Amino acid sequence: MTVNLFADLLISANVQAQLPKGYRIRPLAIDDYDRGVLKLLSQLSVVGEVSKDQFIERFEHMRNLKTYFITVIHEESTDRTVAVGTLVVEYKFLHECGKIGHIEDIVVDDSQRGKKFGQRLIDQLQYTARAIGCYKVILNCTLHNVPFYEKCGLHQKDVQMANYFEPLLIREEEKIQRENWRKFEHRRNSGLGLSPMAERSFHQMLHEVEEARLNKLRETDDERDERQVGTTIAGVLSEEEKVQTVTGSLKILTIETKTDGAK
Ligand SMILES: CC(C)(COP(=O)(O)OP(=O)(O)OC[C@H]1O[C@@H](n2cnc3c(N)ncnc32)[C@H](O)[C@@H]1OP(=O)(O)O)[C@@H](O)C(=O)NCCC(=O)NCCS
Repeated sequence: MTVNLFADLLISANVQAQLPKGYRIRPLAIDDYDRGVLKLLSQLSVVGEVSKDQFIERFEHMRNLKTYFITVIHEESTDRTVAVGTLVVEYKFLHECGKIGHIEDIVVDDSQRGKKFGQRLIDQLQYTARAIGCYKVILNCTLHNVPFYEKCGLHQKDVQMANYFEPLLIREEEKIQRENWRKFEHRRNSGLGLSPMAERSFHQMLHEVEEARLNKLRETDDERDERQVGTTIAGVLSEEEKVQTVTGSLKILTIETKTDGAK
């Protein structure tokens, strides 16, 4: 039996009745991972790599919180999710411990737009919000989508402010670099050619790696020189100095003796 994010009872029979035959509006299910729900979300923003295990873990987390009402429209003939939208509930002290519904991440598959699926999703999310006692719903959107939300009965109020934190961008950059490196290595190992620009940056990377390796080797040579000087000089040490060498002060002796020798 499939696991749903929230109770099926919260789905409006009226919204379902307005969908074309062969489409069902329902809570997100744990097996929607295999029905392309993340691919759908990637039409809105970056999803990145999310394994099935990660999806299940996040799904269970949201289910336990009981404040997430992610809703999908399912196309029965293809067994795919063709639209998805989120309602997240915020609990407040204001308004006599009231609740607000935040509408988030609305996407209709680009092959299915213009069939009122977007509007039906918003109808459903507003229905859920009322059913669980929210006194309003709010959302952020681009100016481009304002007319769509107006058609769904919402109106413009106030402005949105944002601050995007840098670590996220750095992580993205690192991921891109890792991916580029993997592609370079794959093409090199499989004998495929690189574009002249890619070839240059690849060689630059190899050069940097080689430089780092040589630096390490140079250090080793210096250490070896120091050891050899110590050995040579130890040959002309007095018996007393040899005893000192054996008891562990070779390095100091080496430096002193070398200085004497250079005079
Ligand atoms: C925005 C989106 C969800 C709309 O879904 P949809 O199923 O194509 O829209 P609907 O068919 O339900 O449209 C309902 C009404 O809004 C209108 N509408 C939809 N998008 C519109 C837009 N960008 N500008 C103006 N009107 C729009 C439709 O023409 C329709 O009008 P009608 O009732 O006069 O026929 C969909 O285009 C989408 O997924 N876009 C990419 C992701 C995105 O931007 N999501 C919103 C994040 S805030």
